[in-house]
Amino acid sequence: MSNNKVLIFDTTLRDGEQSAGVSFTLRQKILIAKQLEKLGVDIIEAGFPRTSPGDMEAVKHVVKEVRDATICVLARCIKGDIDAAWEGVKGAADPRIHVFINTSDIQIVNQLGKTREEVLAQAVESIRYAATFTSNIEFSPMDATRSDRDFLYQIIDAAIAAGAKTINVPDSVGYAIPAEHGQMFADIIANVANSDKAVFSCHAHNDLGLATANALAAVSAGARQVEGTINGIGERAGNTALEEVVMILKTRKKFMGLDTNICTKELYRTSKLVERHCGMPVQWNKAIVGRNAFRHGSGIHQDGILKMRETWEIIDPADIGIPQGTQLVLGKLSGRHAFRVHLEERGYQLSEAEFNQIFDDFKALADRKEKLDDRDIEALVDDRLGEVQSPEWTLEQVHIASGTHAIATATIQIKDAAGQEYTDAATGDGPLNAIYSAVNRVVGVSPVLTGYSVQNVTEGIDAQGTVTVRIFDGKRGYSGESSSTDVIVASARAYTHAINRMLMVQAREARRNGESLVPPAPTAGDASPSKPDA
Ligand code: KIV
Ligand code: ZN
Repeated sequence: MSNNKVLIFDTTLRDGEQSAGVSFTLRQKILIAKQLEKLGVDIIEAGFPRTSPGDMEAVKHVVKEVRDATICVLARCIKGDIDAAWEGVKGAADPRIHVFINTSDIQIVNQLGKTREEVLAQAVESIRYAATFTSNIEFSPMDATRSDRDFLYQIIDAAIAAGAKTINVPDSVGYAIPAEHGQMFADIIANVANSDKAVFSCHAHNDLGLATANALAAVSAGARQVEGTINGIGERAGNTALEEVVMILKTRKKFMGLDTNICTKELYRTSKLVERHCGMPVQWNKAIVGRNAFRHGSGIHQDGILKMRETWEIIDPADIGIPQGTQLVLGKLSGRHAFRVHLEERGYQLSEAEFNQIFDDFKALADRKEKLDDRDIEALVDDRLGEVQSPEWTLEQVHIASGTHAIATATIQIKDAAGQEYTDAATGDGPLNAIYSAVNRVVGVSPVLTGYSVQNVTEGIDAQGTVTVRIFDGKRGYSGESSSTDVIVASARAYTHAINRMLMVQAREARRNGESLVPPAPTAGDASPSKPDA
């Protein structure tokens, strides 16, 4: 192994499953293990077979399904644990047994009720026993960072002499500080006489939020295996997040001079898989895989990104397999540049005046509304363009005949965008129903009328009424509005406005999808909207 290769040891299925509230099913464990193999982790800690028949079964399945990674299983320094571990892992392409024992005085005395000498003897005996099954043995002096340093050197020396090939030095309670942690590894490597016969590994818990920093300090001091989990899940505050370590080594390769075997393009997919199956959501601002990790909110940053992605991103999201890539989030901090690009990407071609109006509308809306999505922005543009663009259809005249003894009949004259005039008449349950049927027939559409309201905007006998009409084309809703002292005229115009918006959005959507939208021939039809009169 080259001396600048850091082995990645994934313990999502073992330490990760120790997260309170997390329990993977057999199927989930197999899925995760196979994805870890795809990701290219060197070692998968598949379980702790002595703890339950379920763990044993899962390990056996992982062993069968995953052939391209070392499969490791955990065991206390107890014969029964080691037997179970071997039983589970023996069929693996490259099986590893990982034995551990507490080495800090606080745990030796208060938890085990033993002496250091007894612990050392038990460790040596267990490693020798495990070595009767496989030469691939890892030993962990648990709570190493709170262990007496001379005792730590002594037990590590004895473990290597007994056959351990990997020495994992865990910060089991997440107590270490990076500078101190790095020094501990350097001291162990310098003071353990046979340290050159083993690979040193770190296993940092995140109780002080320092797990990744401690792992980096360890590899800088000579450790060549990093243990951790996907998304940093694990006991209490979790473990070292492997995606962070991997991307630090990749992004800062010149500084660190170290490498891994990980296929980083699989990181995001792996993170999502683990998130889904463990039910613990990844925090939004989590490094590398958090939802916001590649989303930019400030106008200044968005402007920079649009000019050159690297101005504000140190990692290309494509490198970790993020399908949506860099995202500029439109909100009240966004600038004109990002907004313009957003609109252009969605196929809008606006004049400067239209853009300025819509940008002002957008800023006003962003002040009122926290989250804006594409639909909000489309509605803004459609609202504006509905007014500023030349409409498809213009209602020229409307005449109605209705009353207690007459069938409501509407005659309309309507002009298309080319100026061609059409006249048609239709009957209905009431005057509005008749008008809308006539418009539908000429235009060749049949939306559902989903809303109709009239509001007085002035008072008195000549009051202006504003009519708002809502229609639905089976996909989305559109509104139209018009004011007049004649409520029938306002209703007819409002309906025509809504139809114009609908046609405009449909045409834009068709353009975006590369379809050609053949405008319906303006002929007589029998489509009739639902009844505002009823
Ligand atoms: O945190 C720890 O010490 C462990 C050991 C079993 C390696 O998980
Ligand atoms: Zn642990």
